[in-house]
Amino acid sequence: MANKAQIAAASWGVKTSFHSLVALLLAGAVIGVVYLTRDAEQPALDEDRAALLQNSAEAASPAPAPSASEKECDLFSGRWVFDNVSYPLYKEKECKYMSDQLACEKFGREDLRYQQWRWQPRGCDLPRFNATALLERLRNKRLVYVGDSLNRGQWVSMVCLVESAIPPNLKSMSSEHNYSLLIFKAAEYNATIEYYWAPLLVESNSDDPVNHRVPDRIVRVQAIEKHARHWSNADILVFDSYLWWRRYQMKVLWGSFGSRDGIYKDVMMPRAYEMALSTWSDWLEVHVNRSKTQLFFVSMSPTHERAEEWGGDVGQNCYMETEPITKEGYWGSGSDLAMMRVVKSVVDGLKARGLGVQILNITQLSEYRKEAHPSIHRRQWEPLTEEQKEKPISYADCFHWCLPGVPDVWNELLYAHIFHNRTQRLEDRVEGL
Ligand SMILES: *[C@@H]1O[C@H](CO)[C@@H](O)[C@H](O)[C@H]1NC(C)=O
Ligand SMILES: *[C@@H]1O[C@H](CO)[C@@H](O)[C@H](O)[C@H]1NC(C)=O
Ligand SMILES: *[C@@H]1O[C@H](CO)[C@@H](O)[C@H](O)[C@H]1NC(C)=O
Ligand SMILES: *[C@@H]1O[C@H](CO)[C@@H](O)[C@H](O)[C@H]1NC(C)=O
Ligand SMILES: *[C@@H]1O[C@H](CO)[C@@H](O)[C@H](O)[C@H]1NC(C)=O
Ligand SMILES: *[C@@H]1O[C@H](CO)[C@@H](O)[C@H](O)[C@H]1NC(C)=O
Ligand SMILES: *[C@@H]1O[C@H](CO)[C@@H](O)[C@H](O)[C@H]1NC(C)=O
Repeated sequence: MANKAQIAAASWGVKTSFHSLVALLLAGAVIGVVYLTRDAEQPALDEDRAALLQNSAEAASPAPAPSASEKECDLFSGRWVFDNVSYPLYKEKECKYMSDQLACEKFGREDLRYQQWRWQPRGCDLPRFNATALLERLRNKRLVYVGDSLNRGQWVSMVCLVESAIPPNLKSMSSEHNYSLLIFKAAEYNATIEYYWAPLLVESNSDDPVNHRVPDRIVRVQAIEKHARHWSNADILVFDSYLWWRRYQMKVLWGSFGSRDGIYKDVMMPRAYEMALSTWSDWLEVHVNRSKTQLFFVSMSPTHERAEEWGGDVGQNCYMETEPITKEGYWGSGSDLAMMRVVKSVVDGLKARGLGVQILNITQLSEYRKEAHPSIHRRQWEPLTEEQKEKPISYADCFHWCLPGVPDVWNELLYAHIFHNRTQRLEDRVEGL
């Protein structure tokens, strides 16, 4: 259900972290480094049609049955295991591009167990994250994360996961398009890991990466080109969009911003979400080169706003939590399954049209991690009021995730899927026993 305070908190957090990134960019004096971005390249009509025909033929033939090991191993179901030997995968202080929004240790968090949990899927192991192998895979390529601040957190995590494998003079951070696009580059590999700000994926009046706190959010559910042209030639795309939609209804605009004949309507959720994702999927269907691009959609990131849901006291939230939830299948009220079904059906629709999008279903595994949010341990964008200082729960951030932490695991899952290697690994493991 809609909760204005929650959404306000989410966008407020977005702003904060962005500023720390901007500060970081300025500090590094890398703003002058601007790479050329190609505009959307429309494939020639014939190729387009050939691809469509080929793909519809593929879609018509029955999909190969998953092998036994694939069936057994659902990487998204399992449990958290405390493992302070292998985790964290990097040190917060040592990551040059850490965001102040997510640097919980820097902002006073003392219990650091949240950094040391490993995700153990049922029936197999996650492949070990190898930064060099990933950079090799990304040679001459672009990996682009597109979405809201949760997705940006995952991008920061990925940058931290690989940057230690790159010598100082061979990596850089820059931005384009008035900070909408942030680019980490590994020069030696000519590889980039980028993040593009589009919290609702389609156009909205919250598209300014700095000033997006608007009293009345308006979404153009049919328009995506303004954003999409910046990632149309990416090799791997990782999307997310959920929290900004988590409200009762959304104001939708048909027409353009500022145009006098635009039509505004309040559309109930999840219908508005469905409209936007349908625009998104139509764009992908037409523009994505199937033999080149890998597509991912990260499922909703859970929030921990109501302690009573996991057996805590009414009025509490993630503030002061230090241990994960152990109850199997725990699911909070903030994760709306109806909206997840919308994503699933849009992705199924694309599959029927010959385009595969892998859903990274991180919701369940992240549900358990009530203790892994920044809470009060992050940079505050505005000075705290006396009232807030007296009641820390009132400003605890239970939306984003501390780094190192949960988003590292999302990236390990992404890594496993990029290499399509989970079956292989399982067999390796069985042989190695
Ligand atoms: C890991 O945790 C165990 C138990 O809490 C502790 O005894 C050990 O010293 C820790 N090891 C490291 C490397 O932190
Ligand atoms: C990581 O990947 C690189 C390149 O594929 C390989 O040479 C190296 O042995 C791998 N490291 C580990 C620890 O597996
Ligand atoms: C570097 O990577 C980009 C894609 O990000 C590619 O278009 C370009 O051709 C690559 N440059 C070289 C020299 O391979
Ligand atoms: C760039 O961003 C700033 C700050 O949000 C905004 O005021 C400005 O209008 C933007 N410029 C362009 C060209 O979009
Ligand atoms: C699609 O990508 C493949 C592999 O990179 C490339 O050979 C092909 O030319 C691309 N097709 C189009 C229409 O751009
Ligand atoms: C994601 O996982 C949850 C919990 O296991 C499940 O209920 C949901 O249907 C899954 N969603 C998709 C899109 O697969
Ligand atoms: C999977 O891993 C094997 C080595 O374990 C490697 O040779 C192969 O290229 C990988 N597959 C893909 C699709 O990257």
